[in-house]
Amino acid sequence: MLRAIRLAALALVLLLGTVWGFAWFGRAPGESLADAFLRRVAGLTGLTGLDMPAPSAGGVQLAQGVSLGGPFTLVDHTGRTVTERDFAGRALLVYFGFTYCPDVCPTELGTIAAALDAMGQGADRVTPVFITVDPERDTPEAMADYVSRFHPRLVGLTGTADQIAQAARAYRVYYAKVRPRDSTDYLMDHSSFIYLVGPDGRVRSLFRPETSPEAIASATTAQLRAF
Ligand code: NI
Repeated sequence: MLRAIRLAALALVLLLGTVWGFAWFGRAPGESLADAFLRRVAGLTGLTGLDMPAPSAGGVQLAQGVSLGGPFTLVDHTGRTVTERDFAGRALLVYFGFTYCPDVCPTELGTIAAALDAMGQGADRVTPVFITVDPERDTPEAMADYVSRFHPRLVGLTGTADQIAQAARAYRVYYAKVRPRDSTDYLMDHSSFIYLVGPDGRVRSLFRPETSPEAIASATTAQLRAF
């Protein structure tokens, strides 16, 4: 019995190690290891054919029982304290990043804006949301200036370090401060998924980095029909 448990544990460790290894070698340029790992795990659970929710074009499948999203308390770019209840009944496209991000965050926020443009009238039912993982520098004022560059309805959310940590945990977002050599400024390493959140505050679909605006638009339009 004990031997069986040991073998099972060993098999699990080997499996996760293998996935980690594949994630390491198979990650896309600019993709963090955490993203690549999450992507592999999502792919693996898809392959094993566990009870999967209805497919959504362009999104990474969430395995049944994996629940992302949930309650948060944050401060919007006008300085107002908001919770998930302020967004109840609306679909959200959520992205976590930081305003000092040199390339990935601006690209993905541009993608969200382009996806909303591609959706036409349906976009009125979707609120785009940018949540910072760098609350130290991303004050409400900094967020207000930043979000206005991407979309007139983009909501910027910041908060205390604890509030951000709680929101990031709910969405399984990885982030860490990194200090490049020869630089006095720090950067934030962070996972880079776009989340489609349903009117109940739960994540319905997530889009990996560099998903096209058209794919996000069509997946979001399809989900809106189901809401
Ligand atoms: Ni970034």
